[in-house]
This record gives sequence, C-alpha cells and structure tokens, in this order.
Amino acid sequence: ESEGAGGGAEGGGGGDTIVLGFSQVGAESGWRTANTKSIKQSAEDAGFELRFSDAQQQQENQIQAIRSFIQQGVDVIAFSPVVESGWDTVLVEARAADIPVVLTDRAVETDEDDVYETFLGSDFVEEGRKAGRWLVDEYADSDEEVRIVELQGTTGSAPANDRRDGFAEIIGEDDKFEVIASQDGDFTRSGGQEVMQAFLSSHDDIDVLYAHNDDMALGAIESIEAAGLEPGEDIKIISVDGIKDAFQAMADGKINVVVECNPLLGPQLMDLVEKVHAGEEVPERVKVEEGVFTQDQAEEELPNRKY
Ligand code: AHR
Repeated sequence: ESEGAGGGAEGGGGGDTIVLGFSQVGAESGWRTANTKSIKQSAEDAGFELRFSDAQQQQENQIQAIRSFIQQGVDVIAFSPVVESGWDTVLVEARAADIPVVLTDRAVETDEDDVYETFLGSDFVEEGRKAGRWLVDEYADSDEEVRIVELQGTTGSAPANDRRDGFAEIIGEDDKFEVIASQDGDFTRSGGQEVMQAFLSSHDDIDVLYAHNDDMALGAIESIEAAGLEPGEDIKIISVDGIKDAFQAMADGKINVVVECNPLLGPQLMDLVEKVHAGEEVPERVKVEEGVFTQDQAEEELPNRKY
C-alpha cells in the first residue's frame, strides 16, 4: 500500500491505497486500446494507484516491468502476457516477494505451482470454435472445397494458439474445408494488410479469410479491394473482437461475421485485485461472456458497441 494519497516514495507499503502494477501487452489493436482505457478508468474509480507499463509487444519489456514492480513493492501485479511461455522465473520471483499476481486477458503455460491467483479473460478456444461453426453452417449446402487463408495473431500468444486450435477442431470434421495458407499478422492492421497481399499474390482461389482479430481483417480488406475483389462477397471474412470499425465494415457488407471478444475487463479486474489483496479466495479462472454477430445484426448493434 502507498503511504497516503500521494504514495510512498519507493512505492509500496504503508497506507490504505492499493498499489497495482499493470504490464500491458502494447497498443497493437482497437481491442487493446479499449482494454487499456477500461483498466485505467476502473483503477481510478476503485481509488487504486495504478502503475501502468506498455511492453510494446515485447516479452523482455514485460519481464522488466514485472521485476520493477517487485522492486517497488507494489501490492498486486497484474499483466496480460504477450506470449504463453517463458514466465516461470519472474513469476517465482513475485511469489518469493509475496506479491499476488493476477493474469488478465491472456494465460501462461507454467510448471510452477501457486504463481498466480487467478486468470480473468475470454475463452479463446471457444472463440475459434464459434468462428468454425459459422463457417460450417455457411457452407452446409455445398460439397465443393472451401479454401481458407488464416491471419494469425502474434506467434506464441494464447489467442493465436487457441483461436487456431478451436477453429481447426470444428472445420476438421469435414475435409471439404482446407486452410491453404496461415501466417502471423501480429494482430495489427498493417500486418493484416501485408500478409493478405502476400496471400493474394500466391493464391488466386481464396474463398474465406479467417482473421484472428478485427484490425488484421480491416487491413486485409484494403489488400482485397486493391486486388479488385469484393470483401465479404468474393472472399468471405470471419473476424474476432467486435470493435466498432468492424461492425461498420459488417454493416457495409465487407465482413461476414464477428466473434465477440470483450476487452472491458477493468471493473472485474479491480474487483479481483481488491479480493486477492485482502487475502480472500477467488476462483482460479474467471471467463467473460461473449456473443457472435452477423451482417443482419450489424446496423442495429452498431450504436450499442462500447468499444
Ligand atoms: O488478447 C486479446 C487479443 O489481443 C485481441 O483479440 C486482439 O485484438 C488483441 O491484440
């Protein structure tokens, strides 16, 4: 705890204000921007002192930020791990310093016990399955081969691994579906645009694009249009997140379906932080409720979108 409202000079220990160190992945997408805003606003609303650090999508930066939070003696550390593996050492350091850790948005793979209190975030495997189910329904009346290109999120990240696996699980039940190319677009618009351009130059028979997030889908739309094709018609587009821009693209007929991934995790995160700080029991896993939206719902839903 910080010493009074201003916080202790060295950071931790003292008054009543909970000091939360948060290491964010970066600012790679509309989803991430909304997530950051939600966390900052909710920390303020909860009266916590937030020490926020942006890792610019680099694991080394996150490890450094966590080490610095440990040194400062913050009350709770929360972070959204850019990739799944490679966290054991720093998590053991936090455990040794007796600082509770809350994972938000993305999970880690670890062999260590008791290195985090809880994980708050979406079920990314289920998101991938939802994307796959939409596709299976869409092509239910056709026996022809369906050629799919996949724009993957950051290599090694939980959402990229899980959205790939959930989707593959569902489409794998029918061999008319074939993923003909799959590449990392790093969850960014420019990544989506560049990789889609490369897909289009090496394949002239793409039926479907499955993008692991909206920003990559929106970047890809630019390349599809530049190639003289109609997104949503010539190439069907499945995306994940549900940012406003993607709903607009859906209303315009350019994206066919969006699987929702909710970034507004701030209020639930602050609640969990308060509980772990007080030594209360929290569930090991807290999932987020999410939907699936299609073109016919896009226009009506657009004004309701909060991110
Ligand atoms: O971890 C959540 C993912 O990260 C979002 O789907 C993507 O847009 C973001 O960059």
